[in-house]
Amino acid sequence: MSKFQVKWGILGPGGIAQTFARDLWVDPCTRGVNDIEHVVVAAASSSSASRAADFLKEVRAPEAKAYGSYKELVADPNVDIIYVATPHSHHYQHAMLCLEAGKNVLCEKAFTTNAKQTELLIKKAKEKNLFLMEAVWTRYFPLSIYAREIVTSGRIGPVQRTFADLSFPDLPENFDDSHRMVNPDLAGGALLDLGIYALTWVFQTLYTTQKDPQPPTVVSSLRKYEKLGSDQLTSMLLTFPRKDLGDAHGIATTSLRISSDPDSKGTAGPSIRIQGETGELQIFGPAFRPTNTRLILNNGTVETKNWFIPGAPESTGWKNGFGGNWQAPGEGQGMFYEADECAYALRDGRKEGRFESLSESLVIMQIMDEVRRQGGMTYPEKIESIEFPLDL
Ligand SMILES: NC(=O)c1ccc[n+]([C@@H]2O[C@H](COP(=O)([O-])OP(=O)(O)OC[C@H]3O[C@@H](n4cnc5c(N)ncnc54)[C@H](OP(=O)(O)O)[C@@H]3O)[C@@H](O)[C@H]2O)c1
Repeated sequence: MSKFQVKWGILGPGGIAQTFARDLWVDPCTRGVNDIEHVVVAAASSSSASRAADFLKEVRAPEAKAYGSYKELVADPNVDIIYVATPHSHHYQHAMLCLEAGKNVLCEKAFTTNAKQTELLIKKAKEKNLFLMEAVWTRYFPLSIYAREIVTSGRIGPVQRTFADLSFPDLPENFDDSHRMVNPDLAGGALLDLGIYALTWVFQTLYTTQKDPQPPTVVSSLRKYEKLGSDQLTSMLLTFPRKDLGDAHGIATTSLRISSDPDSKGTAGPSIRIQGETGELQIFGPAFRPTNTRLILNNGTVETKNWFIPGAPESTGWKNGFGGNWQAPGEGQGMFYEADECAYALRDGRKEGRFESLSESLVIMQIMDEVRRQGGMTYPEKIESIEFPLDL
């Protein structure tokens, strides 16, 4: 059987681009996917072609084209889809650059700095009939598919409440002020970087999986990192209106000062609890890459599952992780699941991902805008701008 091949271009060869491209190298057959293949055919750095070339060597794609500007990458006719992996402050400019050039786009989270920018990207993708997806990789994990099925199957009854937390004690004062985690010029702070995963779990259990999902309302509290004005402790209470079942509540929390998993051994318990009238589903591990689930029903049933993420066999010497935290040999990071989704969409002519529609991405951006408004957190005008092109 001939395989459908997707030719990837990587825009912004930073930390997550390296992790993503390393996952693309893994043979899809290792995860039971036999009809597609991924190839990195080009990468671009905004600073130099040699930086892009070094990146390509690292990710075992030395034959791919290395560009010293993003403009050259988007003009490459050999590229099917571009993975935008720059800081969120720059996503609007860079994703728009790709769409304007006629390229399909997978854009890192948070989609953009604000909802208006997301709206305009969606409009442009529709106008040009291109595929566009926010790279919320967690949505495409088999574990997430299972969690959504638990909700839609009714096994835990109508879901009434979801708790979800993603907090890392990467104390803000330990970052250099210019780092994207804290720097307002790069849309830094816990909310857009980590909080979006807590929101992902609240949304995929109380919105994506509901029959006639309605946008929620939110009340929130946000504590800033005084030195720079980005957020370090943010808590959100969302109310999802439902006609027949009554409103559902989602509690999404995030922080750069406390941890979801203080001893890094999972002793603190699940980072996500999805609670229905007849039981609950607990999710263990960081909200972006959870690995275990426990289903507890009121009738005493308890089902635990481990969701191992298969990667390249140990014999290949290939490993993956983020920021130097390598997964065990033979284990992948799991970003290939979203890449597979992009491949199938391109093959089948779909223009968005199946597990997070563009309209849902937009609703989530609107919620984050509102949380920032309530907390008085603004970013510099330049990165909130909808003007294109704009030099940031
Ligand atoms: N899915 C995940 O698990 C995950 C994990 C971490 C991060 N992310 C997301 O991925 C994006 C990038 O994060 P990262 O950790 O990979 O960042 P990073 O290591 O700092 O890399 C970002 C890259 O963007 C390019 N860039 C272009 N303009 C820039 C500017 N003004 N300042 C800094 N970099 C600029 C740089 O490459 P050149 O200048 O050479 O082109 C840089 O290497 C963020 O939106 C983040 O939220 C996702």
